[in-house]
Order: sequence, then structure tokens, then C-alpha cells
Amino acid sequence: MDIGIYMKTRAALVNSALPRFINNLKGSQPRLAEAMAYSLAAGGKRLRPVLMGASYEIFGGKARDILPAACALEMVHTYSLVHDDLPAMDDDDLRRGRPTSHKVYGEALAILAGDALLTDAFTVLLSSKYPKRVKPEGLLAAARALAARAGAGGMVSGQAADLEAEGFLKGKAGAARREKGLALLSYIHLHKTADLITAAVEMGALLAGAPERDAKALSVFGRDIGLCFQVADDILDVVGDKKKLGKSGSDARNNKLTYASLLGVEEAKRRAEALLRRALPGLARVRGAAGPKAALAAIAEFVYRREN
Ligand code: IPE
Ligand code: IPE
Ligand code: MG
Ligand code: MG
Ligand code: MG
Repeated sequence: MDIGIYMKTRAALVNSALPRFINNLKGSQPRLAEAMAYSLAAGGKRLRPVLMGASYEIFGGKARDILPAACALEMVHTYSLVHDDLPAMDDDDLRRGRPTSHKVYGEALAILAGDALLTDAFTVLLSSKYPKRVKPEGLLAAARALAARAGAGGMVSGQAADLEAEGFLKGKAGAARREKGLALLSYIHLHKTADLITAAVEMGALLAGAPERDAKALSVFGRDIGLCFQVADDILDVVGDKKKLGKSGSDARNNKLTYASLLGVEEAKRRAEALLRRALPGLARVRGAAGPKAALAAIAEFVYRREN
């Protein structure tokens, strides 16, 4: 399987559906709608929606069945990026190869565009039509998973911890600092990043009505590739090609606590590889269609090797 082509084809589905969902939202103030569409526009990898589709397909059905749910997750992810880039957070000027929302629309509208993307993710998720094979109980469980992974028990707390840990490395170096730093980092990565990636595979399984055992195994797989994804993000922030990344890299300027800043890039790479190796056996135990499982395994490799 050529994972590059797979990701591009699957992302194209999401790219064409997203603007339709935004245009269907009734009564939006025009400039707000423009700011929402600006940040959602193509440029992102669409990793989370692609993961959701593959996870759903393990249990039968086609990724297209659950496009509204996949787009809803991408809306939540995009809101998290708009807010992450704000001056009060990482203060970044570039995202997905373009000026950040607050650079184009001003801070206030960027905050509001994020608010609306988050809230209307649930409009899109819960007010869209699905084929019969998606049961109301499955949809309810998926909505609950999304809310839980995005909220104070999930991504938002990871972001709060990430901000609180800025400057951590200014303290005295030594074994105690290293241990404390590692503990902080595992909390930060689990929540700020792995939670929404876990939500992707979890929602796919829940929408498909997957057996609990398989849904659980997928969720653990999602967590591990989510952790791997953020270690790779931290490494790319230091050594990545900014043009390919479409963002300028601000971890050093913000004195962020990252695996790269705590342990160095080489050790961070070893950790990312260990996370990838840990992720794959659990996936192999999931019962269901082989093709989509192979796609998930290839996506895990992509997460580890990616350049953007
Ligand atoms: C960036 O996510 C934010 C992190 C969680 C590290 P992505 O790297 O998936 O961003 P896009 O969606 O492709 O732009
Ligand atoms: C962001 O982590 C995670 C979320 C947006 C939830 P980063 O701050 O490392 O993401 P980038 O590097 O700006 O994309
Ligand atoms: Mg950040
Ligand atoms: Mg950031
Ligand atoms: Mg980063």
C-alpha cells in the first residue's frame, strides 16, 4: 500500500465535504464564517478523519458513511490549532503554510472562529444524516467520546499543562528534573495530542458498533500513535523543514518542555520509535477486515516518519 496516495485520496473526501458542512450552518455572520472556512481550508493532513474512516471500515461499511463525524473531529482539531497559535498561547504567525487566523482576522475574531468551530462540530456530528448501519446508540457514544477527549478531561487540560510547563527547563539540571520533566511530558502529550487521535479511532469503532474488546484495543492503538505523533512534532519543530511543515517552529522561543528539549533529538527519536513498536501488536489483535487494519498500520508508520 502506498500510504502517501491513500492519505491523499482519503483527505480529498474530507476536503470536499468540509466546506459543504460550513455552508449549511444557518445564520452565520459572514466574516465569522469566512474565518472558519479560512482555517479549515485544505493544507492540513486530515490525519484524524482518515484514521476514523479506516477504523470504521474494519467493521464493515465505507468511510464515506461517517463523513459528518470525520469532519466534526477535523473542526475540533482546527479550533484547537487556531487557539494554540494565539498570542496568549504559542504566538505563531504561520499555520498550514498560511498566516494564522489572528494575523488575518484579528485576535477577537480568531477566538470566536475557534469557539464556533468547536460548537458547530457537534451540530455537524449530531444533525447530519447517516446510513442505517450507523445506529443512534453508536452516534451518541461517539459524541460522548468526542466531548470527553476534547474537554477538560482531555485536550484542553493538555494545553493548560503545556503552558504551565513553559520555562520548566530553566531549573537546575539533574536526575530529579529529568524524572519530573518526563512525568509532566507524558501528561501533556497524552492529553494535548493523543486524546484527539484516540478519539478518531474510538469514534470510528463506536459508529460501527464494534465489539467492546476491539474498540478498546483500537483506543490503545490510537493513544500510542498519538503519543508518537507528538514526539515527532517536537522533533520536527527543531530539525524539520519549515516550508514542508507550513509552520515556523516556536518551541525554543516559548521555552517549551518537549522530548527534544529535555532529552535531545536523538533520544526523542528513539522514544518515537519505541511508541510505534508498542502500537502495532495491539492493532494486530483487533478482529475485522484486513485491508483497513493494514491501512492503520501504514498510517502509524507514516506518523513516525512524516516530514510535515
Ligand atoms: C498539529 O497537528 C498539532 C498537533 C497536535 C501537534 P497536525 O500536524 O495534524 O496538523 P494539520 O492538521 O496537519 O495541520
Ligand atoms: C498543539 O501542540 C496541540 C494542540 C493544538 C492541541 P503544539 O503547539 O506543539 O502544535 P504545533 O506545533 O503548534 O502544531
Ligand atoms: Mg502549543
Ligand atoms: Mg503550537
Ligand atoms: Mg509543536
